[in-house]
Amino acid sequence: MEIKTIGVVGCGLMGAGIVETCAKSGYTVKVREINDELLQAGLARIEASLKKAVKRGKLDEADSKLAWERITGTIQLEALKDSDLVIEAAVENMELKKEIFAALDKICPAHTILSSNTSSLSITEIASATQRPEQVIGLHFFNPVPVMPLLEIVRALLTSDETLKISREFGDSVNKTTVVAKDTPGFIVNLLLIPFLLDTIRAYESGMATKEDIDTGIKLGLNHPMGPLTLADFVGLDTTLFVADAMYDEFKDSRYAAPPLLRRMVMAGKMGKKSGAGFYDYE
Ligand code: 3HC
Repeated sequence: MEIKTIGVVGCGLMGAGIVETCAKSGYTVKVREINDELLQAGLARIEASLKKAVKRGKLDEADSKLAWERITGTIQLEALKDSDLVIEAAVENMELKKEIFAALDKICPAHTILSSNTSSLSITEIASATQRPEQVIGLHFFNPVPVMPLLEIVRALLTSDETLKISREFGDSVNKTTVVAKDTPGFIVNLLLIPFLLDTIRAYESGMATKEDIDTGIKLGLNHPMGPLTLADFVGLDTTLFVADAMYDEFKDSRYAAPPLLRRMVMAGKMGKKSGAGFYDYE
């Protein structure tokens, strides 16, 4: 099976990055948002990122134009009916994802692979909403998608060898290095990243150092591109909490228990960079 047309569900931060990455690699991409306002905001994000890539010398002006022309926006899920691969990047809500996958299963032809960019929900459970669980897989990209070189592929209990093979080839085709994880909470990267971020927040909460010194310590002491509190803001404190809670629910291990400060910051609307404030201010 040759993938030519890709459908993306959701044009938020991750969805927009996925659309851009696929379009730059030559795929025809249709992206669906739930209303016109969100769609226009998502398309504007893609346009701005393509311009940034040109400005930084990562992309020719002509290639940027070609990539942009390969992208179509829609607010109808049915418009994704011609996709060979669908990548779902909607909000992290299992009931919503099951509804989307059940609908896609009816809309799309028999050969279509249905995938989710979820960072914490079970692909096996998502697949149970379809009649084609062997063609359901996790394709977990990293933020910022156009820049981060990894694609984490999540093999659910019933995913077929053929679906895994096509997914690996797809990862190669969009210039990502692929790793394969089993369908367990957090997969590979978040299984190890989330306890690290939670420990950092606990350290800050205990008052052992300032946030700036914790970040500088890790950034310069371990050569990380960002300090962990900056990274938590960048990932989104709501997302960090959501993934931690999902992992704690499954493992009941205190390593995944969210520190009170994190939960309270989310309650107070401090979601990190996207909301204008988290551990740091971004206004
Ligand atoms: N298109 C293509 N390339 C771009 C680009 C774009 N729109 N924007 C930037 N770039 C390129 C730049 O040209 C540069 O490349 P170079 O090093 O070869 O010159 C590179 O990307 C870095 O760009 P910048 O100079 O603008 O930015 P920084 O050097 O400040 O790095 C960063 C920014 C890439 C975000 C870096 O700080 C970083 O890697 N941070 C960590 C990010 C991370 O860990 N993400 C994963 C989060 S976890 C996750 O997503 C999983 C989820 O489930 C929670």
